Amino acid sequence: MEKKNIDWANLGFGYIVTDKRFVSNYRNGAWDEGGLTEDATVTISECAGVLQYAQTIFEGLKAYTTEKGETVIFRPDLNAERMEQSAKRLEMPVYPKDKFVDAIVETVRANSAYVPPYGTGATLYVRPYMFGSSEVIGVKPAQEYQFRVFTTPVGAYFKGGAKPLTIKVSDFDRAAPNGTGHIKAGLNYAMSLHAIVTAHEEGFDENMYLDPRTRTKVEETGGANFLFVTKDKKVVVPKSSSILPSITRRSLVHVAKEYLGLEVEEREVLFDEVKEFAEAGLCGTAAVISPVGKIVNHGEEICIPSGMADMGPVTKELYDTLTGIQMGRIEAPEGWIKVVE
Ligand code: PLP
Ligand code: COI
Repeated sequence: MEKKNIDWANLGFGYIVTDKRFVSNYRNGAWDEGGLTEDATVTISECAGVLQYAQTIFEGLKAYTTEKGETVIFRPDLNAERMEQSAKRLEMPVYPKDKFVDAIVETVRANSAYVPPYGTGATLYVRPYMFGSSEVIGVKPAQEYQFRVFTTPVGAYFKGGAKPLTIKVSDFDRAAPNGTGHIKAGLNYAMSLHAIVTAHEEGFDENMYLDPRTRTKVEETGGANFLFVTKDKKVVVPKSSSILPSITRRSLVHVAKEYLGLEVEEREVLFDEVKEFAEAGLCGTAAVISPVGKIVNHGEEICIPSGMADMGPVTKELYDTLTGIQMGRIEAPEGWIKVVE
């Protein structure tokens, strides 16, 4: 299919309306067949559960053009599983895994003219989401839901691409100890908006949230998990019940161990340890791996030894291997790549 006339190499992380999106409705206890539509708008009651009590969850994944010219999607089954966890936590119906993956494939195929060509640095971001669509006024779950998937071509999440970021240690919490930090609920992102606007106004790129109970351990940012590298090249990723189980981070742990032969520790990471690390990065679908150069805690600067000019060497190896797998330059582990026929 002929590609759209888009300046792929200069795309930022924004919304561009594409041709088709998938919609399925849940009524009377069952999902309908669902299908593609050209209508990019949603019409719902003024009293819909999503509007009154924020009953909404979402996912994020990407489609790529490989070196061979195929369109592929990275690990959509894991997004289906995580959305199932999110749905259960917010008392929403589960959208079945097989149907989820089919809906992603169908939506990407229908928008193949927007899948950025190989080598442009851009990708097609895929956003599945679900919300309570029926009226709710007493605090309770909606009876009806809508599941949708749209796509939008994107470039780097952070302006400057691979330039190391400066992170602020936030005084705000994004998640409560037994709250919803481990699922992908819209409410977590609403919680982080004031903190990110404040951080940006102060000249920071992102926030580091600490654990909400003791504020001594590293959690994550508003949209990505952390990854650290020790001076002896061990990869360390924070473990916590209130962070999102990033699919990128889980994939990088596998890549580090199985492709690069690195030792990996998944464990609680004290904020006090951060000054000892050699490299730091943010990992996520949107962030890929974005290097961190500096972390600032109330004016006290921690300068990561890899510096403010480039990614650290281990971060770079992880980045090259993961993106190599996604773009078809490196053989993927079994089941990681879904080809869109
Ligand atoms: N943490 C948060 C809060 C996120 O929003 C995201 C993005 O999805 C991630 C981590 C990274 O997760 P994934 O790698 O599955 O995209
Ligand atoms: C993603 O990486 O898919 C996310 O959902 C992060 C979001 C903040 C854009």
